[in-house]
Amino acid sequence: MTAPLRIAIAAAECAPFAKTGGLADVTAALGRALWQRGHDVRVFLPYYRRIAESGLATEPNGEAFTLEIGGREIRARLLHAALPNSKNASGFPLLVDLIDAPELFDREELYTEDPDESVRWTGFCRAIIEACQRQEWGPDIVHANDWHTGLLPMLLRRAFTWDRLFEGTRTLFSIHNLGYQGVFPADEVERMGLGEVRGQFHQERLSAGTVNLLETGLIHSHWLSTVSETYAREIQTEEHGMGLERVLAAREDHLVGIVNGVDYDEWCPSIDPHIPVNYGPGDLSGKRACRDRLLDEMNLAPDPTGPVFGIVSRMTGQKGFDLLPDILPVFLQSDDVRLVVLGSGDPDSERYFQWLRDSLPHKVGVYLGYKNDLAHRIEAGADIFLMPSRYEPCGLNQMYSLRYGTVPLVRATGGLADTVERWDPERREGTGFCFYEMTSEALHDTMRHALEVWKDREAWSILQARGMARDFSWDVQVQAYEDLYAAILAEHLG
Ligand code: ADP
Ligand code: GLC
Repeated sequence: MTAPLRIAIAAAECAPFAKTGGLADVTAALGRALWQRGHDVRVFLPYYRRIAESGLATEPNGEAFTLEIGGREIRARLLHAALPNSKNASGFPLLVDLIDAPELFDREELYTEDPDESVRWTGFCRAIIEACQRQEWGPDIVHANDWHTGLLPMLLRRAFTWDRLFEGTRTLFSIHNLGYQGVFPADEVERMGLGEVRGQFHQERLSAGTVNLLETGLIHSHWLSTVSETYAREIQTEEHGMGLERVLAAREDHLVGIVNGVDYDEWCPSIDPHIPVNYGPGDLSGKRACRDRLLDEMNLAPDPTGPVFGIVSRMTGQKGFDLLPDILPVFLQSDDVRLVVLGSGDPDSERYFQWLRDSLPHKVGVYLGYKNDLAHRIEAGADIFLMPSRYEPCGLNQMYSLRYGTVPLVRATGGLADTVERWDPERREGTGFCFYEMTSEALHDTMRHALEVWKDREAWSILQARGMARDFSWDVQVQAYEDLYAAILAEHLG
């Protein structure tokens, strides 16, 4: 444990308050873990309409204030809400700082395509700085996450240099997904109230007519991190850099990969309140019951001789579901297997899974939408968890699956490559099934291989046991962040 630090974590998602994907899980778990290790942590999150409507208990934290952004006056205040299960050694929960600015965040969705989207996230970053100033709280580390907070390092290091409160502040910018960059027309810079620091944006890009908020974070943050070692390497290549590979490669010596942890209070079959029967590594009979109940819940035919495949995912190009149409219909018809899908997103994928369910109603169950308790029941009730991702910065579901004795079948990319070990039938080692080429054939071969291994019940038990024994808890990963924060501060003392 290093000396306690003042750490501000800024993110657009934090579970359970606002979640669309893994960013929410990571913000909550990292904040909680750092807090419980004695750091003075503040997690900043927008107070979205859905949080207000959830009836969450909040307390005002200080006076209301007005932000002036590009000539627009935006009223804001801070609210506190206790993060569940976050009590520290003194019995105090971590209080999340919710930025209540109705003009920006009282909207249907977390992310919008409204004309003032750039102003919403500028407002978020500005409100965080304002909150620190009002409370005279100078963070040692500002840990910004993804493009929504990409302006924070630049604002702190180039615009608010006059404020000695931030003199010792160092910034870490974490990339959770390079696929979302926050790109806006260059003339938004004035609307965002950033005309005076125009020179701090990537000048070539600006001349070409855009600003890129993720890139701005990459350029100005003292250090950069991403959520697995493999992804940290991949993003410096043309194949995975999404146009930012040169900027990233130029910062190679200030870029690290730290695999996400798992919150085992939330994702552990022996205590999970969302699953019908709890179970653990010693006795998997409960898993069998979870499987029966899942098939029943999804109106599928019971007792298949083959495995139940599960998918829980945002449906976007990233997740590789375009590999499925070529192989799934025949695969599902020719074997006594089931498929359970939970997800939402791109309409083509949604339509495809609906069609598949309508074609094979006894074998395929689909829930289109977001449903946390069902996600837990799929983790518990499925035998194989499918993640054919095109790219995957870290991925959490494969790690959840391992703990639930559900064998992950993944494409070996990013964090999937770092957390799933390929099953070696000779040595009987490994924790899952991996394929490498982004082709339907490669996926199909691996699914067929999994069916073969499934028939060898002893091998399957070993595979499950090995996965369940893997430990990705935050207790381990948080140490890596503590070490990184300490290294960042040490580097910049001189
Ligand atoms: P990503 O962040 O790219 O979406 P991750 O694997 O890191 O991928 O995290 C996804 C998280 O979101 C997991 O906690 C998963 O259970 C959850 N999730 C995704 N889609 C849904 C859904 N439709 N309903 C419930 N939970 C979901
Ligand atoms: C992103 C990535 C995912 C990662 C998550 C949390 O949404 O797509 O791979 O696990 O962020 O870091």
